[in-house]
Amino acid sequence: MKALEGVKILDFTHVQSGPTCTQLLAWFGADVLKVERPGVGDATRKQLVDVPGADSLYFTMLNHNKRSIELNSKNEVGKEVLTRLIEECDVMVENFAPGALDRMGFTWERIQEINPRMILASIKGFGPGKYADCKVYENVAQCAGGSASTTGFLDGPPLVTGAQIGDSGTGLHLALGIVTALFHREKSGRGQKVSAAMQDGVLNLTRVKLRDQQRLEKGPLTEYSQFGEGIPFGEATPRAGNDSGGGQPGRILKCKGWETDPNAYTYFITQAAVWEKVCDVIGEPDWKTREGYTTPKDRLDKLNEIFARIEEWTMTKTKFEVMDICNPLDIPVGPILSMKEIAEDEGLYATGTLVKVAHPERGEYISVGCPIKLSDSPVEVVRSPLLGEHTAEILADVLGYSGAELNRVIGSGAVGEVKVAAE
Ligand code: COA
Repeated sequence: MKALEGVKILDFTHVQSGPTCTQLLAWFGADVLKVERPGVGDATRKQLVDVPGADSLYFTMLNHNKRSIELNSKNEVGKEVLTRLIEECDVMVENFAPGALDRMGFTWERIQEINPRMILASIKGFGPGKYADCKVYENVAQCAGGSASTTGFLDGPPLVTGAQIGDSGTGLHLALGIVTALFHREKSGRGQKVSAAMQDGVLNLTRVKLRDQQRLEKGPLTEYSQFGEGIPFGEATPRAGNDSGGGQPGRILKCKGWETDPNAYTYFITQAAVWEKVCDVIGEPDWKTREGYTTPKDRLDKLNEIFARIEEWTMTKTKFEVMDICNPLDIPVGPILSMKEIAEDEGLYATGTLVKVAHPERGEYISVGCPIKLSDSPVEVVRSPLLGEHTAEILADVLGYSGAELNRVIGSGAVGEVKVAAE
């Protein structure tokens, strides 16, 4: 039995943030019923298409283990079916633009009336306040949550990061809120509203930079490279390039092959506890005792020189050789892995972190599996549903429509062109 078996999720999510959340719940065993607009579906189905006519990777990689029902929630019969779904399900998850659910007629008050045990979980760009009505996408959240202003190099513009901390990050936050509310419902018997704003999610993940903002008021941030370089600090937490956030000097350094391979780099941390080993490895044993090099504080104004010397050494090794040499010595290093290298990493397939999934329209593709492993609730990744693939099944098995009533719903056009499941 899977951890969330028996939990029914009314999945009204689209694009990335909400689908990330419901995919996780599906992987943990919940029955996720994805409601999609008839004939259209989640916009990502047809975004960044690589196989003409097939659902895109954008969609398939975010919607595994779900069932799809086409439903027009704006017409009368559609609203009737949606009401039945609210009655039957435990959790409703949505990430529509602010107010969209209310405009459909399904306010929180109305949802509670229909099913007092229902948990309504929503993602919006911003929490209550002056930006509450804004539509928000990933990079907007990264900028508004403080990540962009603290990412990049001191002499360059703010940068967004490739990790989708606004969308997938907030989806993760919401998933935690949902299982917490389910746990609470065991005791209270009632549902509740769970809200996660993308700005808040990003800020939560950028917490250490707000730490630094307050430390800055007490004096310069000595672990930032700019301190050793004598560059004065401004009023706000600056961009710190590839400095390591934890106070131990770290940089990204070139490795053998960097001239032609854009990812022939390693992260290298000169952790204080292993400084002597670093000196030995790079061939500077003299630095272990040389005045001005022995303590972390002494070294702060020499970090450029020190890392230049370490880089001379790393450039003679591949990023994997650097790892093999430094790891046994407890010198923290990490190869910069390209997506190609990750996609070819057998170890990640062995743990289920990467999976190969068969799809009737697009053939086999690679996806990221569940990154969280439960020993008693293993994840089996099932391909994403085709649009409306389970409409008939959900109407009959979950909602109990049959005979003339089923024909009335299907005939109303509220549930699209009903298909029988392909497999
Ligand atoms: N049947 C009928 N109508 C449906 C429907 C269905 N099954 N599903 C959606 N719709 C309608 C909505 O009710 C809405 O109508 P309205 O504007 O008349 O109220 C309309 O489709 C569009 O929905 P909306 O959410 O506004 O989509 P959008 O494409 O304009 O905006 C976002 C997309 C992501 C910007 C917006 O949804 C948003 O800000 N979401 C919250 C933050 C978020 O999650 N952002 C990141 C996404 S990865």
